[in-house]
Amino acid sequence: MDWPMKTTVVNKHHGAYDVDICRPGPWGNPFHIGADGDRAAVIARHKAWLVKQPHLMARLCELRGKRLGCVCKPRACHGDTLAALADAAQLVALKQYYCGDVLDVLRTFPNKCADLIFGSPPYEDARNVPNDGFPVYRGQAWVDWMVEVCRESLRVCRGLVALVMEGRTRHYSWSGTPVLLMADLIRAGITLRKPPIYERDGVSGSGGPDWLKNRYEFVVCATNGGQLRWSNNVAMGHPPIRGPGGNPTNRKQNGSRTGHGCRSNGLLAPGKRYTPPKIANPGNIIDCGAGGGGHLGSQLAHENEAPFPEKLVEFFIRSFAPPGGLVLDPFAGSGTVGAVALKNGRRFCLIDVRASQIRLCKRRIMEVVCGQSR
Ligand SMILES: C[S@@+](CC[C@H](N)C(=O)[O-])C[C@H]1O[C@@H](n2cnc3c(N)ncnc32)[C@H](O)[C@@H]1O
Repeated sequence: MDWPMKTTVVNKHHGAYDVDICRPGPWGNPFHIGADGDRAAVIARHKAWLVKQPHLMARLCELRGKRLGCVCKPRACHGDTLAALADAAQLVALKQYYCGDVLDVLRTFPNKCADLIFGSPPYEDARNVPNDGFPVYRGQAWVDWMVEVCRESLRVCRGLVALVMEGRTRHYSWSGTPVLLMADLIRAGITLRKPPIYERDGVSGSGGPDWLKNRYEFVVCATNGGQLRWSNNVAMGHPPIRGPGGNPTNRKQNGSRTGHGCRSNGLLAPGKRYTPPKIANPGNIIDCGAGGGGHLGSQLAHENEAPFPEKLVEFFIRSFAPPGGLVLDPFAGSGTVGAVALKNGRRFCLIDVRASQIRLCKRRIMEVVCGQSR
């Protein structure tokens, strides 16, 4: 089942409407034509403001499919933004918290209701984690289980499915389960994007007496194929090292450089010149610095056995979930994904098999709502 919807904006003086979006109600535009600029300016300022109001972003679902009553129509107004965000986000009546097995819960969700799935599954054979009676998988059984999780995630998600994971090293041997999973996903016909690397300082001693300490994990990324419906691949970028403008230089066979090169990598039309962007693409190695020891974004994260840092989650949410969109974490743990979604004007849905973790998620979200999160 898909969820059809169309939110419209109507003039409340000329017809029926469902929700009044005029001032002084919660949906009113706080910016005034005249004092705050012309019509286009106050619409733009409202949009920039709205996406930073977590309490309103979380309530956008109330507008979905409704007639929003304003006094501007047929002229443009902030109602167009509200309607577009409500529709673009494909808002559905999902709850924010689900306690249950990932597959059992996902199977109750409609098709394509989430904009981004981001999370980190229990690593195979995670020995120190209380399993509260749910199965712990090893080796190929873990891979097979994760293939099913990815398949179901792709049914539920219309954007990127990104899962952070690591294999197990024991007796000087790495299990390679993230790589085995990627191979099996490809064999199953699932589209992968090249996995970004989650990099952090690493735990001293994690290399053992003869190997290198571990400084990275894979972020396995799957899609339903084709270009992503929404992405902002410079959201976490920085100004380019070389100033904008000018042509790239190409190195010739004799080692000298030519100053009027054109890209011929198939991404630009032949002959079209490359213009450096204002903000450079940040690349696929996500440096999160110190991973633990109070660098996770909230002390509450430490109440889960294997939390990831808010910085990593922020990278994916800002790059791959539209403002107002729904971000789903099927292995929520301490609720890092929910907290970061809320801070960045996205909605969240959190699943965890342990009731203790769902209670922890709720505390983590309250921390953000009360403004106590760092
Ligand atoms: C690596 S932790 C996630 C930590 C989280 N990213 C954070 O920042 O706190 C994995 C979580 O998956 C949960 N989990 C394990 N098996 C599950 C299952 N079958 N369905 C749903 N959740 C499960 C565990 O309870 C655990 O909290």
